[in-house]
Amino acid sequence: MDNTMGTELGMNRTGVKVSPLDSSKTAAGAETFTVPTNGSEDALAMNRIRYMKEADSVGTVPLPSSIKGVFSSLQEKIMNGDHTFMDKLGERIAFERTGTRLYQALLSKYEGSEDKSNYPDRAILERFCAEERRHFEMACEAMEQIGGDCTAMTPSADVAGVAAMGWIQVIADPRVNFKQSLEIILQAELVDNACWEVLIELAEDVGLSSLATNFQQALDEEAVHLSTIKEWVRQFNISGHVEDTISP
Ligand SMILES: [Fe+2]
Ligand SMILES: [Fe+2]
Repeated sequence: MDNTMGTELGMNRTGVKVSPLDSSKTAAGAETFTVPTNGSEDALAMNRIRYMKEADSVGTVPLPSSIKGVFSSLQEKIMNGDHTFMDKLGERIAFERTGTRLYQALLSKYEGSEDKSNYPDRAILERFCAEERRHFEMACEAMEQIGGDCTAMTPSADVAGVAAMGWIQVIADPRVNFKQSLEIILQAELVDNACWEVLIELAEDVGLSSLATNFQQALDEEAVHLSTIKEWVRQFNISGHVEDTISP
């Protein structure tokens, strides 16, 4: 079966209304045999706070291997213990790599679909995938330029990587179809755009205006990714197909 659209009616038995009789028995059984624990969500919150106080931070930003070529305002920030730029640049490296992987997986969904007649132009997806990869390479080069190590995982890279695991899990699931995958890409693009905006501001703030200009080019491409994917998702949901007329 081609699960292209994935919105068929079927024997979904997840809701209680499928069998009111069994559902009320289940509810009665739960009430009889479940021993409620004392406490409330307040206790849970307290526990979280207790663990927070004991926990270490999510890694550290590595020391720049060379401070040569680093602009004085960035150098000054580094000296003052502000490593935000390197941390967020590390995050972009991780995110753009994940973005490339997400598009590669989306292209597999495309190829694996039997009926592609409702689909957008594959060449546009290939272009977006290549652009994500270029953004990854651009972020790596920027990291090297400021004396960092593009293979190091910064705390923000770690956090973003863990958060993206849900997207990867969904898109790698063979039951998830092309349209559902496209909706995952939309989530990623929303975050992607917002993060480039912050990185540009950070680059300007530390006096790296040529990097900010390069990053702006990436953001311009990301804006096209976002508006295109968003429009495709809208069209898939409203009319079940993507119009031929869309060509960003
Ligand atoms: Fe991206
Ligand atoms: Fe993108």
